[in-house]
Amino acid sequence: MEGIKTIAIDGPSASGKSSVSKGVAAELGFIYSDSGALYRGVTWQAIRKGVDPQDAAAVTECMLSAEWSFFVQDGAAIFSIDGDIPVQELRGKDVRESVAVVAAIPEIRRFVVESLQSLANFGSLVMEGRDIGTVVFPDSPYKFYLDADPEERAMRRYRELVAAGEDEKAHEVLDSLKKRDQIDATRKMDPLVVAPGAQVIDSTAMTLADVIKTVVDAVKKGDTK
Ligand code: CDP
Repeated sequence: MEGIKTIAIDGPSASGKSSVSKGVAAELGFIYSDSGALYRGVTWQAIRKGVDPQDAAAVTECMLSAEWSFFVQDGAAIFSIDGDIPVQELRGKDVRESVAVVAAIPEIRRFVVESLQSLANFGSLVMEGRDIGTVVFPDSPYKFYLDADPEERAMRRYRELVAAGEDEKAHEVLDSLKKRDQIDATRKMDPLVVAPGAQVIDSTAMTLADVIKTVVDAVKKGDTK
């Protein structure tokens, strides 16, 4: 693990974490990792097995009985569940509406956090999520917290979903995003908070390129301290 670096990028839904993290990873030659995809994967697995996402014991059992594999493809850490690699399936409405409830289950968080920590065996990482700087890699010297106004975030997410061919209404996207923010920020285990020592970046009025540069510059500066 000598020389392995982990960059933690946390923040609420649609704050720009994914695009920023992918850009930073590409610029620095690090592996990109989307921790939310794993919570979505657990949720998707439960739904496709007919398990009620509200039933914590059944979701946990379903997760533990599945076969999970982790690997790197095209610069990103990804996973398969029982041999399938879900991508677009993870962004569907059914998953989106249940993922925050599933992610609040302590056993699920323990499994996901350990899986995410093991990804550092693949090399240096840029990982985006809600608790990367606080729980997954609390010792990382490179922590960022991205934020933006809720209306701006909802509009970004709405445009993304419409571009992906989803039939959505802007006000419903805003409501669902606010509901998820509320569950994420108030849950007992690992709520979304700004990690101690994290640099807070409000991206409301910034371009994507500006945010990527802010992170990359801070990491490079940190290296020369
Ligand atoms: O793309 P978006 O930011 O909307 O969501 P995501 O990153 O795919 O995360 C989906 C959900 O997983 C979040 O709403 C959280 O409930 C949960 N999550 C978490 O609890 N901890 C993480 N590190 C990442 C995601």
